Amino acid sequence: MPDKTQRLVLNNDAIDAAKRSIGDGPITPGYGPWRDDIVRLLNDALATELVCVLRYKRHYFTAHGLPSPRIAEEFLEHANAEAGHADRIAERIVQLGGDPDFSPGTLQKRSHADYNDSKDLRAMLESNLVAERVAVETYRQMIHLIGDKDPTTRRLLETVLADEEEHADELRDLLEE
Ligand SMILES: [Fe+2]
Ligand SMILES: [Fe+2]
Repeated sequence: MPDKTQRLVLNNDAIDAAKRSIGDGPITPGYGPWRDDIVRLLNDALATELVCVLRYKRHYFTAHGLPSPRIAEEFLEHANAEAGHADRIAERIVQLGGDPDFSPGTLQKRSHADYNDSKDLRAMLESNLVAERVAVETYRQMIHLIGDKDPTTRRLLETVLADEEEHADELRDLLEE
């Protein structure tokens, strides 16, 4: 039986507080102390997406010489999808009042996934599948950590996670052909 003594009431003090500190844009004081942590997690994810764009671009252009135009096209599609993820993550970082870190010097160090310059098609496919699985695992952990602390970021990460799962699935199919 649900506890009827628990009333669902809004916190009016927090609503009043939201009328102040308007320089924070969409981030109200009720947001909690998580903003810096979430911005840091998002910046690591941004670095990961950017490294994935570079790896897929490299593979797209080098796979073109191989008898595999379909796989090369798949790499290009993934490169564009990862670039879209990077844009949406950077946009959310700015909404949270953070600085999106596009600094190329530290990109690989901050990225969860690795760059890869294989010339062999199978090695390309395998390195991309590993990177997608790393992305799936990191997004799953981020979604769990964020929980109900930031529903908008969580929703964004859930849609990105679904894309990464689809990428991993496609790469596995290509490896099994
Ligand atoms: Fe991605
Ligand atoms: Fe992906």
